[in-house]
Amino acid sequence: MSASNRTNIPNSLNEHWMPFSDNKNFKKNPRLIIDAKGVYLTNHEGKKMIDGSSGLFCNPLGHGRREITEAVTKQLDKLDYCQPFNQGFGGSFELATRIAKKTPGDLNKIFYTICGSTAVETAIKISIAYHRAKGQGHRFRFVGRERGYHGMNIGATTVGGMINNVKTFASVLMPGVQHMRHTHLPEHKFVKGQPETGADMAEDLERIAMNFGGENIAACIVEPIAGSTGTLIPPKGYLKRLREICDKHGILLIFDEVITGWGRTGSAFGAQEFGVTPDLMTMAKATTNGVIPMGVVACKDEIYDAITDASSAPEGAPELFHGYTYSGIPAAVAAALAVQDIFDKEDIFKRAKEMSPYFQDGLHSLKDIDIVTSIRGYGMMGGIDIKMKDKPGKAGFQTFKHCYDAGVNFKSTGDTLIIAPQFICEKKHIDEIIEKLRTGITNYAKS
Ligand SMILES: Cc1ncc(COP(=O)(O)O)c(C=O)c1O
Repeated sequence: MSASNRTNIPNSLNEHWMPFSDNKNFKKNPRLIIDAKGVYLTNHEGKKMIDGSSGLFCNPLGHGRREITEAVTKQLDKLDYCQPFNQGFGGSFELATRIAKKTPGDLNKIFYTICGSTAVETAIKISIAYHRAKGQGHRFRFVGRERGYHGMNIGATTVGGMINNVKTFASVLMPGVQHMRHTHLPEHKFVKGQPETGADMAEDLERIAMNFGGENIAACIVEPIAGSTGTLIPPKGYLKRLREICDKHGILLIFDEVITGWGRTGSAFGAQEFGVTPDLMTMAKATTNGVIPMGVVACKDEIYDAITDASSAPEGAPELFHGYTYSGIPAAVAAALAVQDIFDKEDIFKRAKEMSPYFQDGLHSLKDIDIVTSIRGYGMMGGIDIKMKDKPGKAGFQTFKHCYDAGVNFKSTGDTLIIAPQFICEKKHIDEIIEKLRTGITNYAKS
């Protein structure tokens, strides 16, 4: 294989240990993607498929955006790397200013990380550092939520709430983490938008505060909409109640907006969409349209001020002993700046908001298929539950494969199909996604 067709058919599939994959099965029957343009992907057999999940919620602006490629190429030609510790380059500051303009309230301080997991880890550390700076080092506990997904380092795994991600690593998880119950109630099946019931699930945070002492809790972290476990939408009033309980006990509220950030709900962030401002917010994925890894933590000014003011370190020593070799590297920043340009020029969040009802109607039109047991959605994201067969996850994956053969690509988690179209989709593309989902799900049901 020559360098020119490196992404086509490799000589061997044996050496690459794939993440979150059934390696053995995949290698018997691989699904390799060799080309991506706009809303379409082409696999190694030359089959064209529509991208039904924006990659992994990464590429809302479509694949192969020339503006992004050109911006990155230009940046690499001029400055390919500069160390981010006590040094910098203009782009990362410009990007921080632009991100801060879109974040809610006074979340104006921007810390760069490498991905969503490192953004969550950073938010956890900043919470601890903030409380220490305020003389409250005893606040070490964190509260997450069942069915939450926050990434895969130890901190993010611990605050997450997906059992299979935790089992193997239970012995090394962070101490002092409690989980609230998830908000997906049986009566939420086939409910469009925000459910009317379930706001009282937020009282779990109050109970945890009563059991462990609210004064010992550093932060509570939730995704405004739980994405990876199938679009679990917050009941009306739920996030607001979490905010009130956090305020009452001095607990920081972290919104993990790695999926919901950058327009997925129809607003810049879930925070604005649901009218609740957190203290810290994480983002990744669409920040660069998925083309170069980058994570971001946006913090309230007060958090930054407390940590930097409390530092009595000598000149040159960090106020916060935390950072990454690849924090805000030039290529990622260039991609993210180009993405910001596109967001503004094409009024992308508005476009997502306007397309959302059409997409949600399409999604719910699949309700009549026998093996579909629930459908949920909000903005440009949705989850379809497939009736479990023998063991959890089997039906979901088999359905995914039938849909792939029918020409729509996405991700399944357990028995849930995760659908998240690109924001550049036109109605005809939404129709195509829904039609191919119907074909794939029906073919699986007949198989
Ligand atoms: C809400 C949320 N947080 C964090 C992460 C972890 O991001 P990454 O895979 O970039 O580390 C994800 C990934 O899907 C996510 O959905």
